[in-house]
Amino acid sequence: MSALPRSLLALTVTAVLAASQAALAQTTVSPPGRLLASNCFQCHGTNGNGPGFDELTGKSASKLFKEMKEYQSGEEGEGIMAVHAMGYTDAQLRELSQWFSQQQP
Ligand code: HEC
Repeated sequence: MSALPRSLLALTVTAVLAASQAALAQTTVSPPGRLLASNCFQCHGTNGNGPGFDELTGKSASKLFKEMKEYQSGEEGEGIMAVHAMGYTDAQLRELSQWFSQQQP
C-alpha cells in the first residue's frame, strides 16, 4: 500500500465518525410526548400497552384528550387519574394524547 496520503486517510476516518455521531444523535432524540408519557407507564404499561390499568393504545388522540380533560375537571370523580391529570397543561395533554394514539395496541 499506499499512495494514499495519511492526511486523506485521517480525513476519511473523521468524516465517518462525524456521520455515525449524527446518526446516533438522531436516534436518541425522543419524539414529542414520549418523555411525558413515561409518567404513565408504571400504571398503564410500557408505551401504554399494559399490563396494568386500562390500555391507552388504540384510541384516537381526540378521545384520549377528552378523557384527560374529564379527569382534570373532576367529572370523573376524585380518583388517581383526576389528581394525575391536574398536573398537565392542555398543550402537554395534546402531546401525550397524540403520542399514545400513535402506539400500536
Ligand atoms: C398511579 C397510576 C396511574 C398513573 C401514573 C396514570 N394512570 Fe391513567 N388510569 C389509572 C387508573 C387506575 C385508571 C382507571 C380509573 C378509572 O376508571 O376511573 C386510569 C385510566 C386512564 C384513562 C381512561 C382509560 C379508559 O379506557 O377509560 C386514561 C385516558 C388515562 N388513564 C391516561 C393516563 C395518562 C395519559 C397518564 C400519564 C400522564 C396516566 N393515565 C397515568 C391509573 C394511572
